[in-house]
Amino acid sequence: MASFKLLLLPGDGIGTEVMDEVSRLVDWANGTGVIKIETESDLVGGCAYDDHGEAISESAMALAHAAHAVMLGAVGGPKWDGVPYEKRPEAGLLRLRKDLELFANLRPAICYPALAEASSLKRELVEGLDIMIVRELTGGVYFGEPKEITDLGDGQKLAVDTQIYQTYEIERIAHVAFDLARKRGNLVHSAEKRNVMKTGVLWNEVVTQVHSENYADVNLEHILADNCAMQLVRAPKQFDVIVTDNLFGDVLSDEAAMATGSLGMLPSASLGAMDSEGRRPAMYEPVHGSAPDIAGHGKANPIATIASFAMCLRYSFDQGDLADKIESAIATVLEQGLRTGDIAQEGCKLVGTRQMGDAIVAAVQRSN
Ligand code: IPM
Ligand code: MG
Repeated sequence: MASFKLLLLPGDGIGTEVMDEVSRLVDWANGTGVIKIETESDLVGGCAYDDHGEAISESAMALAHAAHAVMLGAVGGPKWDGVPYEKRPEAGLLRLRKDLELFANLRPAICYPALAEASSLKRELVEGLDIMIVRELTGGVYFGEPKEITDLGDGQKLAVDTQIYQTYEIERIAHVAFDLARKRGNLVHSAEKRNVMKTGVLWNEVVTQVHSENYADVNLEHILADNCAMQLVRAPKQFDVIVTDNLFGDVLSDEAAMATGSLGMLPSASLGAMDSEGRRPAMYEPVHGSAPDIAGHGKANPIATIASFAMCLRYSFDQGDLADKIESAIATVLEQGLRTGDIAQEGCKLVGTRQMGDAIVAAVQRSN
């Protein structure tokens, strides 16, 4: 039987609540007898800072490197607004992405039929929506140097962030997007701002070249990132795969999430390069944050995190069947009318994190 090590990093806020529900699905997966998942847990984010003064410890990083995959909940909250910039909760998450070289962030935005009414867009615009945002995750303005604030001494300060991309970084993310498109709707939109940014000019050039040399069978459209944002709310179903840089990907994926009903629904996978033994570093996390306003109340929607675990089963543990079962269990409980507050609808039953988890666990168990 295939055996895997999974590191759980629940993090802050609702991260711990939603991760508890994932642990129950890990138990279910182990109970199927087709896979053995051993879990360990550690701290990341504000809770790690409170514990030992860093957003992630060296020992947690070592566990992350040794694991087949990492599941992360969420980091941050107003409690840590005053901590030094290098030690802020988000620094733990960014270090995991950078040190594990998780350059490819897959953010699927799927509108479950039962939720078409929960979207802020009209039903006909979002029903059947299935977009894959492929966000570059280890480059661009998130990590570019210099990144600093200088005191000019005359009462003025100067802040600099650096947007920076090399050819190879664009090439490898373009390959991920085109390979995915071939298994889906065969269409890639590449979003950048070549009209104002040099990185956009290079992005456009490299994506065009990767396409013509390797993927002439896939349809490619170049789109300016601002137009892409507009089209996502005007007619989101025109998209299949969107490939874009780190910052535009951050913004466009939040926007696409709302089309599906709620940020509480969106999972993600962050993947590195495949090694010679077919292993690739990977981290799975919901797109939503730590939601400090509802943390500790048992109200959070665990679906994004549970769906992230399904992605982990599919991409890291090669268990597409178990992933399918979890995804259809999510669709089933939504059809049954269960809703957490973020996707609440008239005539549906309002439930908390645990009850939503219970229902999903019960539905996967029925599918055994
Ligand atoms: C995300 C988040 C992170 C990001 C934050 C928490 C650093 O918004 O994963 O989308 O900006 O990448
Ligand atoms: Mg974000």
